[in-house]
Amino acid sequence: MTNLTTFGLSDEQQMFRETVGRMAQEKIAPRAADIDESGDFPWDIVELFREYGLMGVAMPEEYGGGGADLLTFCIAVEEVAKVCATSSLIIAAQHLGAMPILIAGNKEQKQRYLPAVAQGDRLSAFGLTEPEAGSDAGGTKTRAVRDGDEYVLTGSKVFITNGGLAKTMVVFASTDPSLGTRGISAFIVELDQPGVSVGRIENKMGIRGSQTAQLLFDNVRVKASNRLGQEGEGFKIAMRTLDRTRPGIAAQALGIAQGALDVAVDYLYQRQQFGTPLSQFEGLQFMVADMQTQVEASRQLLYRAAEIIESAGFESHATPEVTRYSAMAKLMCSDTAMRVTTDAVQLLGGYGYIRDYPVERMMRDAKITQIYEGTNQIQRLVIFRNMNHGGV
Ligand code: CAA
Repeated sequence: MTNLTTFGLSDEQQMFRETVGRMAQEKIAPRAADIDESGDFPWDIVELFREYGLMGVAMPEEYGGGGADLLTFCIAVEEVAKVCATSSLIIAAQHLGAMPILIAGNKEQKQRYLPAVAQGDRLSAFGLTEPEAGSDAGGTKTRAVRDGDEYVLTGSKVFITNGGLAKTMVVFASTDPSLGTRGISAFIVELDQPGVSVGRIENKMGIRGSQTAQLLFDNVRVKASNRLGQEGEGFKIAMRTLDRTRPGIAAQALGIAQGALDVAVDYLYQRQQFGTPLSQFEGLQFMVADMQTQVEASRQLLYRAAEIIESAGFESHATPEVTRYSAMAKLMCSDTAMRVTTDAVQLLGGYGYIRDYPVERMMRDAKITQIYEGTNQIQRLVIFRNMNHGGV
Protein backbone atom coordinates (compact mmCIF):
# COMPACT_ATOMS: atom_id res chain seq x y z
CA MET A 1 0.00 0.00 0.00
CA THR A 2 1.41 3.37 -0.95
CA ASN A 3 0.41 7.00 -1.08
CA LEU A 4 1.14 7.60 2.59
CA THR A 5 1.05 11.17 3.67
CA THR A 6 1.53 12.58 7.09
CA PHE A 7 -1.74 14.42 7.22
CA GLY A 8 -4.09 12.03 5.49
CA LEU A 9 -4.68 8.42 4.61
CA SER A 10 -4.89 6.79 1.20
CA ASP A 11 -8.37 5.73 0.03
CA GLU A 12 -7.38 2.14 0.72
CA GLN A 13 -6.31 2.95 4.27
CA GLN A 14 -9.49 4.95 4.83
CA MET A 15 -11.61 2.00 3.68
CA PHE A 16 -9.59 -0.37 5.83
CA ARG A 17 -10.15 1.92 8.83
CA GLU A 18 -13.90 1.90 8.22
CA THR A 19 -14.03 -1.90 7.87
CA VAL A 20 -12.01 -2.58 11.02
CA GLY A 21 -13.85 0.18 12.92
CA ARG A 22 -17.24 -1.31 12.02
CA MET A 23 -16.13 -4.80 13.00
CA ALA A 24 -14.81 -3.49 16.32
CA GLN A 25 -17.97 -1.54 17.13
CA GLU A 26 -20.30 -4.38 16.17
CA LYS A 27 -18.42 -7.45 17.35
CA ILE A 28 -15.85 -6.44 19.95
CA ALA A 29 -17.44 -3.51 21.83
CA PRO A 30 -20.26 -5.73 23.18
CA ARG A 31 -17.64 -8.15 24.56
CA ALA A 32 -15.22 -5.62 26.07
CA ALA A 33 -16.68 -5.24 29.58
CA ASP A 34 -17.01 -9.00 29.96
CA ILE A 35 -13.44 -9.64 28.80
CA ASP A 36 -12.25 -7.15 31.42
CA GLU A 37 -14.49 -8.51 34.16
CA SER A 38 -13.73 -12.20 33.60
CA GLY A 39 -10.03 -11.75 32.79
CA ASP A 40 -10.33 -14.70 30.42
CA PHE A 41 -8.28 -14.62 27.24
CA PRO A 42 -10.79 -14.03 24.38
CA TRP A 43 -10.15 -16.84 21.92
CA ASP A 44 -13.33 -15.81 20.07
CA ILE A 45 -11.63 -12.50 19.23
CA VAL A 46 -8.60 -14.38 17.88
CA GLU A 47 -11.02 -16.24 15.60
CA LEU A 48 -12.57 -12.95 14.51
CA PHE A 49 -9.14 -11.50 13.72
CA ARG A 50 -8.24 -14.62 11.78
CA GLU A 51 -11.40 -14.16 9.71
CA TYR A 52 -10.48 -10.55 8.97
CA GLY A 53 -6.81 -11.34 8.31
CA LEU A 54 -5.63 -9.18 11.18
CA MET A 55 -3.36 -11.58 13.06
CA GLY A 56 -0.56 -11.02 10.58
CA VAL A 57 -1.87 -7.97 8.80
CA ALA A 58 1.56 -6.36 8.44
CA MET A 59 3.55 -9.54 7.87
CA PRO A 60 4.73 -10.19 4.30
CA GLU A 61 2.31 -11.97 1.98
CA GLU A 62 4.92 -14.58 1.06
CA TYR A 63 4.76 -15.79 4.68
CA GLY A 64 0.98 -15.78 4.93
CA GLY A 65 0.54 -12.22 6.15
CA GLY A 66 -1.53 -9.34 4.81
CA GLY A 67 1.44 -7.38 3.46
CA ALA A 68 0.19 -4.11 4.92
CA ASP A 69 2.44 -1.20 5.81
CA LEU A 70 3.07 -0.07 9.38
CA LEU A 71 0.57 2.78 9.22
CA THR A 72 -2.20 0.40 8.16
CA PHE A 73 -1.21 -1.89 11.02
CA CYS A 74 -1.43 1.06 13.43
CA ILE A 75 -4.88 1.91 12.10
CA ALA A 76 -6.07 -1.63 12.84
CA VAL A 77 -4.73 -1.50 16.40
CA GLU A 78 -6.17 2.00 16.94
CA GLU A 79 -9.65 1.06 15.74
CA VAL A 80 -9.82 -2.03 17.93
CA ALA A 81 -8.35 -0.20 20.96
CA LYS A 82 -11.13 2.39 20.75
CA VAL A 83 -13.44 -0.27 22.14
CA CYS A 84 -11.20 -2.91 23.75
CA ALA A 85 -7.52 -2.55 24.62
CA THR A 86 -7.14 -6.25 25.45
CA SER A 87 -8.29 -7.19 21.95
CA SER A 88 -5.99 -4.66 20.30
CA LEU A 89 -3.07 -6.18 22.20
CA ILE A 90 -3.73 -9.52 20.52
CA ILE A 91 -2.77 -7.94 17.18
CA ALA A 92 0.14 -5.95 18.61
CA ALA A 93 1.62 -8.88 20.57
CA GLN A 94 1.47 -11.18 17.54
CA HIS A 95 3.36 -8.54 15.59
CA LEU A 96 5.94 -8.19 18.39
CA GLY A 97 6.50 -11.95 18.60
CA ALA A 98 7.08 -12.18 14.86
CA MET A 99 9.22 -9.06 14.48
CA PRO A 100 12.64 -10.49 15.51
CA ILE A 101 12.12 -13.28 12.96
CA LEU A 102 11.14 -10.75 10.30
CA ILE A 103 14.14 -8.61 11.12
CA ALA A 104 16.84 -11.24 11.59
CA GLY A 105 15.48 -14.59 10.45
CA ASN A 106 16.92 -16.42 7.45
CA LYS A 107 14.60 -17.65 4.70
CA GLU A 108 14.23 -21.09 6.21
CA GLN A 109 13.39 -19.74 9.68
CA LYS A 110 10.84 -17.38 8.19
CA GLN A 111 9.23 -20.12 6.09
CA ARG A 112 9.10 -22.46 9.04
CA TYR A 113 7.71 -20.15 11.72
CA LEU A 114 5.99 -17.13 10.22
CA PRO A 115 3.00 -18.60 8.34
CA ALA A 116 1.42 -20.15 11.48
CA VAL A 117 1.91 -16.87 13.35
CA ALA A 118 0.69 -14.70 10.47
CA GLN A 119 -2.42 -16.83 10.13
CA GLY A 120 -3.04 -16.83 13.87
CA ASP A 121 -2.76 -20.63 14.13
CA ARG A 122 -0.09 -20.16 16.80
CA LEU A 123 0.21 -17.22 19.16
CA SER A 124 3.67 -15.76 19.51
CA ALA A 125 5.58 -14.05 22.30
CA PHE A 126 8.64 -11.90 22.86
CA GLY A 127 10.93 -13.05 25.66
CA LEU A 128 13.17 -10.21 26.77
CA THR A 129 12.16 -9.09 30.29
CA GLU A 130 13.47 -10.93 33.36
CA PRO A 131 13.01 -10.40 37.09
CA GLU A 132 16.32 -8.48 37.24
CA ALA A 133 16.30 -7.16 33.67
CA GLY A 134 13.37 -4.85 32.99
CA SER A 135 14.41 -1.38 31.81
CA ASP A 136 17.98 -2.71 31.89
CA ALA A 137 17.28 -5.28 29.20
CA GLY A 138 21.01 -5.83 28.79
CA GLY A 139 21.07 -7.39 32.27
CA THR A 140 19.69 -10.65 30.83
CA LYS A 141 20.59 -13.62 33.06
CA THR A 142 18.97 -16.43 31.07
CA ARG A 143 21.81 -18.55 29.73
CA ALA A 144 22.19 -20.38 26.46
CA VAL A 145 25.09 -22.82 26.45
CA ARG A 146 26.22 -24.43 23.23
CA ASP A 147 26.16 -28.24 23.16
CA GLY A 148 27.00 -29.68 19.74
CA ASP A 149 24.43 -28.47 17.25
CA GLU A 150 22.10 -27.35 20.02
CA TYR A 151 21.94 -24.76 22.79
CA VAL A 152 20.70 -25.49 26.30
CA LEU A 153 18.57 -22.67 27.74
CA THR A 154 18.12 -22.07 31.47
CA GLY A 155 16.47 -19.13 33.17
CA SER A 156 13.17 -17.29 33.38
CA LYS A 157 11.28 -14.53 31.62
CA VAL A 158 8.58 -12.40 33.27
CA PHE A 159 5.65 -10.21 32.19
CA ILE A 160 5.33 -12.16 28.98
CA THR A 161 2.27 -11.19 26.98
CA ASN A 162 0.62 -14.41 25.73
CA GLY A 163 2.73 -16.36 28.26
CA GLY A 164 1.25 -19.84 28.64
CA LEU A 165 -0.77 -19.42 25.43
CA ALA A 166 1.88 -18.72 22.82
CA LYS A 167 3.57 -21.64 21.11
CA THR A 168 6.33 -19.71 19.34
CA MET A 169 8.60 -17.33 21.18
CA VAL A 170 11.83 -15.51 20.57
CA VAL A 171 13.94 -15.79 23.71
CA PHE A 172 16.91 -13.54 24.39
CA ALA A 173 19.64 -15.32 26.36
CA SER A 174 23.27 -14.71 27.14
CA THR A 175 25.74 -16.91 25.30
CA ASP A 176 28.66 -15.04 26.87
CA PRO A 177 27.94 -13.10 30.07
CA SER A 178 31.43 -11.52 30.02
CA LEU A 179 30.41 -9.51 26.93
CA GLY A 180 27.31 -7.82 28.41
CA THR A 181 24.84 -6.69 25.73
CA ARG A 182 27.26 -8.02 23.08
CA GLY A 183 26.96 -11.50 24.60
CA ILE A 184 23.18 -11.77 24.18
CA SER A 185 21.77 -14.01 21.43
CA ALA A 186 18.23 -14.56 20.15
CA PHE A 187 16.56 -17.96 19.67
CA ILE A 188 13.27 -19.10 18.24
CA VAL A 189 11.89 -21.47 20.87
CA GLU A 190 8.91 -23.76 20.45
CA LEU A 191 7.21 -23.61 23.81
CA ASP A 192 5.40 -26.96 23.67
CA GLN A 193 8.50 -28.95 24.62
CA PRO A 194 10.05 -30.47 27.75
CA GLY A 195 11.69 -28.06 30.15
CA VAL A 196 9.37 -25.12 29.43
CA SER A 197 6.85 -24.37 32.15
CA VAL A 198 4.49 -21.56 33.02
CA GLY A 199 5.07 -19.84 36.34
CA ARG A 200 3.01 -17.06 37.87
CA ILE A 201 0.10 -15.67 35.87
CA GLU A 202 -0.26 -11.97 36.73
CA ASN A 203 -3.41 -10.38 38.14
CA LYS A 204 -3.35 -7.00 36.43
CA MET A 205 -4.91 -3.54 36.78
CA GLY A 206 -5.85 -3.36 33.10
CA ILE A 207 -5.69 -5.27 29.82
CA ARG A 208 -7.16 -7.97 32.00
CA GLY A 209 -8.13 -10.37 29.22
CA SER A 210 -4.56 -10.54 28.00
CA GLN A 211 -2.58 -13.30 29.69
CA THR A 212 0.70 -12.12 31.20
CA ALA A 213 2.87 -14.86 32.65
CA GLN A 214 6.27 -15.93 33.82
CA LEU A 215 7.96 -18.62 31.72
CA LEU A 216 10.61 -20.92 33.13
CA PHE A 217 13.29 -22.66 31.07
CA ASP A 218 14.96 -25.65 32.61
CA ASN A 219 17.60 -27.15 30.30
CA VAL A 220 15.52 -26.51 27.22
CA ARG A 221 17.25 -27.75 24.08
CA VAL A 222 17.10 -25.46 21.07
CA LYS A 223 18.65 -26.28 17.71
CA ALA A 224 21.51 -23.99 16.72
CA SER A 225 19.63 -23.50 13.45
CA ASN A 226 16.98 -21.67 15.53
CA ARG A 227 19.43 -18.92 16.51
CA LEU A 228 18.56 -15.61 14.87
CA GLY A 229 21.64 -14.03 13.34
CA GLN A 230 25.04 -14.58 14.89
CA GLU A 231 25.91 -15.14 18.53
CA GLY A 232 25.96 -11.78 20.29
CA GLU A 233 23.55 -10.06 17.92
CA GLY A 234 20.51 -10.64 20.15
CA PHE A 235 20.45 -7.31 21.98
CA LYS A 236 20.52 -5.33 18.76
CA ILE A 237 17.79 -7.56 17.32
CA ALA A 238 15.69 -6.79 20.42
CA MET A 239 16.28 -3.03 20.08
CA ARG A 240 15.53 -3.05 16.36
CA THR A 241 12.36 -5.02 17.09
CA LEU A 242 11.17 -2.46 19.63
CA ASP A 243 11.90 0.36 17.18
CA ARG A 244 9.36 -1.25 14.87
CA THR A 245 6.77 -2.34 17.43
CA ARG A 246 6.53 0.62 19.85
CA PRO A 247 4.31 2.37 17.29
CA GLY A 248 1.84 -0.49 17.82
CA ILE A 249 1.64 0.41 21.51
CA ALA A 250 1.33 4.06 20.54
CA ALA A 251 -1.59 3.11 18.30
CA GLN A 252 -3.19 1.18 21.12
CA ALA A 253 -2.84 4.20 23.41
CA LEU A 254 -4.23 6.51 20.75
CA GLY A 255 -7.24 4.25 20.25
CA ILE A 256 -7.91 4.10 23.98
CA ALA A 257 -7.73 7.91 24.17
CA GLN A 258 -10.05 8.39 21.20
CA GLY A 259 -12.50 5.83 22.57
CA ALA A 260 -12.65 7.60 25.95
CA LEU A 261 -13.02 11.01 24.31
CA ASP A 262 -15.93 9.74 22.19
CA VAL A 263 -17.72 8.38 25.25
CA ALA A 264 -17.15 11.62 27.20
CA VAL A 265 -18.42 13.88 24.40
CA ASP A 266 -21.59 11.80 23.96
CA TYR A 267 -22.15 11.98 27.68
CA LEU A 268 -21.78 15.77 27.81
CA TYR A 269 -24.56 16.18 25.25
CA GLN A 270 -26.90 13.81 27.07
CA ARG A 271 -26.38 14.59 30.72
CA GLN A 272 -28.21 17.61 32.14
CA GLN A 273 -27.35 19.48 35.34
CA PHE A 274 -28.62 22.86 36.51
CA GLY A 275 -31.27 22.54 33.77
CA THR A 276 -28.84 22.46 30.86
CA PRO A 277 -26.71 19.84 29.04
CA LEU A 278 -23.17 19.58 30.38
CA SER A 279 -21.93 20.45 26.87
CA GLN A 280 -23.02 24.04 27.54
CA PHE A 281 -20.53 24.54 30.37
CA GLU A 282 -17.45 26.37 29.17
CA GLY A 283 -15.17 24.77 31.75
CA LEU A 284 -16.04 21.35 30.39
CA GLN A 285 -15.81 22.52 26.77
CA PHE A 286 -12.23 23.64 27.49
CA MET A 287 -11.37 20.22 28.91
CA VAL A 288 -12.74 18.51 25.81
CA ALA A 289 -10.92 20.93 23.50
CA ASP A 290 -7.62 20.06 25.20
CA MET A 291 -8.38 16.34 24.96
CA GLN A 292 -9.20 16.61 21.25
CA THR A 293 -6.04 18.61 20.58
CA GLN A 294 -3.82 16.13 22.41
CA VAL A 295 -5.38 13.18 20.60
CA GLU A 296 -4.96 14.72 17.17
CA ALA A 297 -1.38 15.85 17.83
CA SER A 298 -0.54 12.34 19.03
CA ARG A 299 -2.14 10.82 15.93
CA GLN A 300 -0.10 12.99 13.59
CA LEU A 301 3.16 12.15 15.36
CA LEU A 302 2.34 8.44 15.28
CA TYR A 303 1.40 8.45 11.60
CA ARG A 304 4.58 10.35 10.76
CA ALA A 305 6.62 7.84 12.80
CA ALA A 306 4.94 4.94 10.99
CA GLU A 307 5.78 6.50 7.65
CA ILE A 308 9.46 7.00 8.58
CA ILE A 309 9.86 3.50 10.04
CA GLU A 310 8.08 1.89 7.10
CA SER A 311 10.36 3.56 4.62
CA ALA A 312 13.39 2.15 6.50
CA GLY A 313 12.14 -1.45 5.93
CA PHE A 314 12.39 -4.52 8.18
CA GLU A 315 15.97 -5.42 7.54
CA SER A 316 17.70 -2.09 7.71
CA HIS A 317 19.86 -1.22 10.68
CA ALA A 318 18.57 1.43 13.01
CA THR A 319 18.91 5.03 12.10
CA PRO A 320 18.65 7.52 14.92
CA GLU A 321 15.57 8.94 13.22
CA VAL A 322 13.73 5.60 13.23
CA THR A 323 14.60 4.95 16.87
CA ARG A 324 13.71 8.49 17.95
CA TYR A 325 10.36 8.67 16.15
CA SER A 326 9.33 5.27 17.45
CA ALA A 327 10.05 6.34 21.03
CA MET A 328 8.46 9.78 20.59
CA ALA A 329 5.24 8.28 19.24
CA LYS A 330 5.02 5.77 22.09
CA LEU A 331 5.79 8.46 24.69
CA MET A 332 3.33 11.00 23.40
CA CYS A 333 0.43 8.69 22.60
CA SER A 334 0.62 6.88 25.94
CA ASP A 335 0.88 10.09 27.99
CA THR A 336 -2.09 11.40 26.01
CA ALA A 337 -4.03 8.22 26.72
CA MET A 338 -3.44 8.55 30.45
CA ARG A 339 -4.43 12.23 30.54
CA VAL A 340 -7.45 11.88 28.28
CA THR A 341 -8.87 8.80 29.98
CA THR A 342 -8.41 10.40 33.42
CA ASP A 343 -10.24 13.50 32.20
CA ALA A 344 -12.96 11.33 30.65
CA VAL A 345 -13.57 9.73 34.05
CA GLN A 346 -13.72 13.24 35.54
CA LEU A 347 -16.22 14.43 32.93
CA LEU A 348 -18.54 11.53 33.70
CA GLY A 349 -18.27 12.29 37.43
CA GLY A 350 -19.60 9.50 39.63
CA TYR A 351 -20.68 7.58 36.54
CA GLY A 352 -17.11 7.65 35.28
CA TYR A 353 -15.96 5.79 38.36
CA ILE A 354 -18.32 2.84 38.07
CA ARG A 355 -18.37 0.00 35.63
CA ASP A 356 -21.63 0.97 33.91
CA TYR A 357 -19.53 3.13 31.61
CA PRO A 358 -16.31 2.02 29.88
CA VAL A 359 -14.11 4.99 30.82
CA GLU A 360 -12.79 3.58 34.11
CA ARG A 361 -11.67 0.46 32.19
CA MET A 362 -10.07 2.66 29.55
CA MET A 363 -8.20 4.57 32.26
CA ARG A 364 -6.91 1.31 33.77
CA ASP A 365 -5.98 0.02 30.32
CA ALA A 366 -4.21 3.27 29.37
CA LYS A 367 -1.74 2.98 32.25
CA ILE A 368 0.14 0.01 30.83
CA THR A 369 0.90 1.87 27.61
CA GLN A 370 3.21 4.16 29.63
CA ILE A 371 5.00 1.09 30.96
CA TYR A 372 5.34 -1.78 28.53
CA GLU A 373 7.63 -2.02 25.51
CA GLY A 374 9.85 0.30 27.53
CA THR A 375 8.70 2.71 30.23
CA ASN A 376 8.24 6.31 29.20
CA GLN A 377 11.34 7.17 31.22
CA ILE A 378 13.28 4.83 28.91
CA GLN A 379 11.59 6.40 25.86
CA ARG A 380 12.86 9.82 26.96
CA LEU A 381 16.36 8.43 27.37
CA VAL A 382 16.17 6.84 23.91
CA ILE A 383 14.89 10.07 22.37
CA PHE A 384 17.70 12.13 23.88
CA ARG A 385 20.38 9.62 22.87
CA ASN A 386 19.08 9.61 19.30
CA MET A 387 18.79 13.36 18.80
CA ASN A 388 21.24 15.00 16.46
CA HIS A 389 23.19 17.77 18.06
CA GLY A 390 20.92 20.74 17.83
CA GLY A 391 17.91 18.56 18.49
CA VAL A 392 16.48 18.35 14.98
N1 CAA B 1 18.94 -0.47 17.20
C1 CAA B 1 20.10 -1.13 17.01
N2 CAA B 1 21.08 -1.17 17.94
C2 CAA B 1 20.86 -0.51 19.09
C3 CAA B 1 19.68 0.20 19.36
C4 CAA B 1 18.70 0.22 18.34
N3 CAA B 1 17.56 0.89 18.50
N4 CAA B 1 19.75 0.74 20.58
C5 CAA B 1 20.95 0.39 21.09
N5 CAA B 1 21.63 -0.36 20.17
C6 CAA B 1 22.97 -0.92 20.29
C7 CAA B 1 23.98 0.17 20.67
O1 CAA B 1 24.44 0.83 19.52
C8 CAA B 1 25.06 -0.62 21.36
O2 CAA B 1 25.84 -1.25 20.36
P1 CAA B 1 27.44 -1.50 20.57
O3 CAA B 1 27.56 -2.58 21.60
O4 CAA B 1 27.90 -1.96 19.22
O5 CAA B 1 28.03 -0.21 21.00
C9 CAA B 1 24.27 -1.73 22.07
O6 CAA B 1 23.01 -1.84 21.38
C10 CAA B 1 24.00 -1.41 23.52
O7 CAA B 1 23.29 -0.18 23.55
P2 CAA B 1 23.25 0.77 24.83
O8 CAA B 1 24.66 0.98 25.32
O9 CAA B 1 22.46 1.98 24.48
O10 CAA B 1 22.51 -0.16 25.87
P3 CAA B 1 21.97 0.14 27.33
O11 CAA B 1 22.32 -1.00 28.19
O12 CAA B 1 22.34 1.53 27.75
O13 CAA B 1 20.36 0.03 27.14
C11 CAA B 1 18.16 0.80 26.65
C12 CAA B 1 19.66 0.75 26.26
C13 CAA B 1 17.58 1.73 25.61
C14 CAA B 1 17.92 1.34 28.03
C15 CAA B 1 17.53 -0.62 26.50
O14 CAA B 1 18.00 -1.50 27.52
C16 CAA B 1 16.02 -0.59 26.50
O15 CAA B 1 15.39 -0.32 25.49
N6 CAA B 1 15.39 -0.91 27.67
C17 CAA B 1 13.94 -1.07 27.72
C18 CAA B 1 13.58 -2.49 27.42
C19 CAA B 1 12.18 -2.65 26.96
O16 CAA B 1 11.66 -1.87 26.18
N7 CAA B 1 11.55 -3.71 27.42
C20 CAA B 1 10.22 -4.03 27.01
C21 CAA B 1 10.07 -5.50 26.92
S1 CAA B 1 8.89 -6.00 25.77
C22 CAA B 1 7.36 -5.79 26.43
O17 CAA B 1 7.10 -5.03 27.30
C23 CAA B 1 6.45 -6.54 25.64
C24 CAA B 1 5.16 -7.03 26.12
O18 CAA B 1 5.05 -8.14 26.59
C25 CAA B 1 3.99 -6.26 25.69
